[in-house]
Amino acid sequence: MSKRKVVLIPGDGIGPNISTAVKKVVAASGAEIRWIGCKAGLAALEEGPDVLPESTIDAIKEHKIALKGPCTTPIGEGFTSVNVQLRKILDLYSAIRPIRNLDGIKTRFSGVDIVIIRENTEGLYSGVENQVTPGVVMTMKVATEDACYRIAKKAFEYARKRGRKKVTVFHKANIMKMTDGLFIRKSREVSQRYTDIEYEEMIIDAGCMKIVQDPTQFDILLLENLYGDLLSDLCAGLVGGLGVVPGSNIGDDIAVFEAVHGSAPDIAGKNIANPLALLMSCVMMLNHLAENEGIDYYSECATKIKLAYNKAIGEGATTRDLGGNLGTQEFADALIERM
Ligand code: NAI
Repeated sequence: MSKRKVVLIPGDGIGPNISTAVKKVVAASGAEIRWIGCKAGLAALEEGPDVLPESTIDAIKEHKIALKGPCTTPIGEGFTSVNVQLRKILDLYSAIRPIRNLDGIKTRFSGVDIVIIRENTEGLYSGVENQVTPGVVMTMKVATEDACYRIAKKAFEYARKRGRKKVTVFHKANIMKMTDGLFIRKSREVSQRYTDIEYEEMIIDAGCMKIVQDPTQFDILLLENLYGDLLSDLCAGLVGGLGVVPGSNIGDDIAVFEAVHGSAPDIAGKNIANPLALLMSCVMMLNHLAENEGIDYYSECATKIKLAYNKAIGEGATTRDLGGNLGTQEFADALIERM
């Protein structure tokens, strides 16, 4: 069988270490993948002038699938964020982030099963910033009918396909009447064509309070860009932290899978980072390939990996962020032993 080529961007900080661990586990699962290594972030700046080189974009366009480690974009040096650029250039308009309790990780809540569907291309992340006059600066929040419509459609389609019951939109349309107003108008319009799925709107400040009181009342959260970014980390905190939340950025024909967390410079180079979130993102990728390209055995490999990490976590074989004492590579070895 020929190996599916997948672009791998190891990224910065903890990225190369967790990517190595993930590759080991995937190989042990039997999933035949040929990784095409590409650079972005600080790693790319060591070799050229851009944080996101053309060659990396071209490789993703060619192979349509990438697994991406976290990237650092230098602050205040005129570089646009790697992630913002990638999502825009490749039109990866939806970020899909499932947030669930894992057996064996004790948190304040059980039964959390939320999917965040975040608009990924506009809002306050449009990069339209200027200085009005010295001492007065401005960032523009952009919303377009098309982008609001397609992300709402994505959320409802996702809900229907996966048998989910409810879509909740968090917004601040009471203040941002035009931009958030458009977002809820389009969400409402789309919701009317999915009468089998409950639709609900909530002002985001009240929504945040409710989510930390009882997250089990939420199913799919549909959010514009900034709110999706913030709620992703908040929800990660409900199920054990940034080390256990996977993610994907999906367009119409290209998908980039990545963990929610960043490059964690505070723990880089120590072999203590948890590779699980990137591994879970890779499991999402294998399932995506099985579903969209008919490579059925990838879903069996994905299940094998899931069983292995559930078992390891259940037995207390975890990295330090989850209360264990394994290093990044030792955790990968522990999964391989259990496969
Ligand atoms: P961060 O997610 O890197 O770190 C926040 C906290 O979580 C830190 O204490 C870190 O040690 C911990 N943490 C994160 N991932 C972990 C893991 N796998 N295992 C154990 N602990 C983990 O967020 P921060 O500090 O705000 O950002 C650091 C850099 O990452 C920045 O340059 C930022 O721009 C970049 N970043 C990149 C992202 C991406 O490429 N997708 C996403 C978020 C941030």
